[in-house]
Amino acid sequence: MELKYDFLVIGTGLGGLSFALKAAEHGKVCLISKVEMEETNTRYAQGGIAAVTYEPDSHAKHVEDTLVAGDQLCNEEVVKMVVMEGPDQIRELIQWGTHFDKQSSGKYDLAREGGHSEYRILHHKDNTGQEIQRALSVQVRKHPNIDLLENHFAVDLITQHHLGKLVKRHLTNIECYGAYVLNLDTEEVFKILSKTTLLASGGAGNLYSTTTNPTIATGDGVAMVYRAKGIIENMEFVQFHPTSLFNPGESPSYLITEAMRGYGGILRNQSGEKFMNKYDSRGSLAPRDVVARAIDNELKIHGHDFVYLDNNHLSGKELKEHFPNITEKCRSLGIDIAKDKIPVVPAAHYICGGVKVDMDGQTGIKRLYAVGEVASTGLHGANRLASNSLIEAIVYADRAALHAVQNVPEYQFADRIPDWDITGTTHPEEMVLITQNLKELKQIMTNYVGIVRSDLRLERATARLEIIYRETEALYRKSKVSLRICQLRNLINVGYLVIKMAQARKESRGLHYNLDYPKSLDIKQM
Ligand code: SIN
Repeated sequence: MELKYDFLVIGTGLGGLSFALKAAEHGKVCLISKVEMEETNTRYAQGGIAAVTYEPDSHAKHVEDTLVAGDQLCNEEVVKMVVMEGPDQIRELIQWGTHFDKQSSGKYDLAREGGHSEYRILHHKDNTGQEIQRALSVQVRKHPNIDLLENHFAVDLITQHHLGKLVKRHLTNIECYGAYVLNLDTEEVFKILSKTTLLASGGAGNLYSTTTNPTIATGDGVAMVYRAKGIIENMEFVQFHPTSLFNPGESPSYLITEAMRGYGGILRNQSGEKFMNKYDSRGSLAPRDVVARAIDNELKIHGHDFVYLDNNHLSGKELKEHFPNITEKCRSLGIDIAKDKIPVVPAAHYICGGVKVDMDGQTGIKRLYAVGEVASTGLHGANRLASNSLIEAIVYADRAALHAVQNVPEYQFADRIPDWDITGTTHPEEMVLITQNLKELKQIMTNYVGIVRSDLRLERATARLEIIYRETEALYRKSKVSLRICQLRNLINVGYLVIKMAQARKESRGLHYNLDYPKSLDIKQM
């Protein structure tokens, strides 16, 4: 089977949906999601979306906060562009039906998170992502020019490689003609040929044992581009959210939004000490890399499994009003957050690197765009400022849509693309071969390539990963293609890139902390 579209969009979070809505005004769009459209990383974003709204905030302050959080590795031109264009995109979100909380005066109720010098986070209670996802999903489902294929998984991008042409890594003339897509209901792989393709496939939190990401975050976009010989960068910068709810066995880990610290929540160790003051003068509201590393250190020094987030300065009424979902979630576990402190631990949350794109969201592969967490735009540098990701996704989706719409008339559909080759493949007899390798991968990444790394840990990770890479490739070649084996293969590709890029960075910077290149963090790191 073969389908043809002007625009193929892989992924249905904020980046994918907003691009689809704009592109659909100019041509036919196919939107694919490997599960149902609403299950995305966007949906799990609690805190909100950062944009300059009222004085005393200013573009200059938002730019400065982003550059400081990014440990001076951000692309300043990109930072300025996103900060300037952000407010217009917020207006579009509102026009599409998104509700942000307002004060009784009618002004938006702005929150503050780590690393922000001003109150600038627009939010909807403590489930902003869910509200954005809801509003855009409604628009997409009723758009006549958008065909939505749920339970469809992009296995690989189609490039010249599939025409039997030799493609060398980093050649400038690689082109994307669409994707091979697995229908998860019929288990058949078919071709979607497109004039342009957008990757909006999210992150890869499932590389780690503990993550705030939903199970779908398996690095599919980065892995596909890597295999298609595109350019990937900055993968060493994996952001751990400092505060996920400590509730062993729960996956994904439940996020405790940083906005709680913005409202004055204080981190304490199990002895009750406000330990953050030892690490950074900004205390509990220091940028995420600093806070996650400090918590990690406290846990290792004291041999504890969690620290506490103390919100006792707020009344039960205030907590319920601002954080109704967290209040309810904790209550279901017997924690009354008006009286009890919340046990929290860091969890893998966001990958700052990804597919390298220019300021129009174009990747190094022609006709292929990337937006959202899968992309590396230069906005985040070595550490993403809280709530800067949704604004990045929507600004880049807008730019990519504009660029793709202008260029699509130049492109033809590729012909003579072969069907997916299933010769000699069978269902893997033992699922344990996949599940065990996934477990091992997560352990390797968590223990050796987590918040604190060392040259020896990275070396060990490389040697261990090599074994599971070879085993999984061998299994993949003889297996009928399935979601589980593809996701494992993608995670292994992404894990490899994180390790290699971590080894290449001979310094500690932002989210990449290597004990062999100590930084002036006054407390000894373990
Ligand atoms: C949070 O609410 O703390 C998460 C928001 C983000 O990661 O930007």
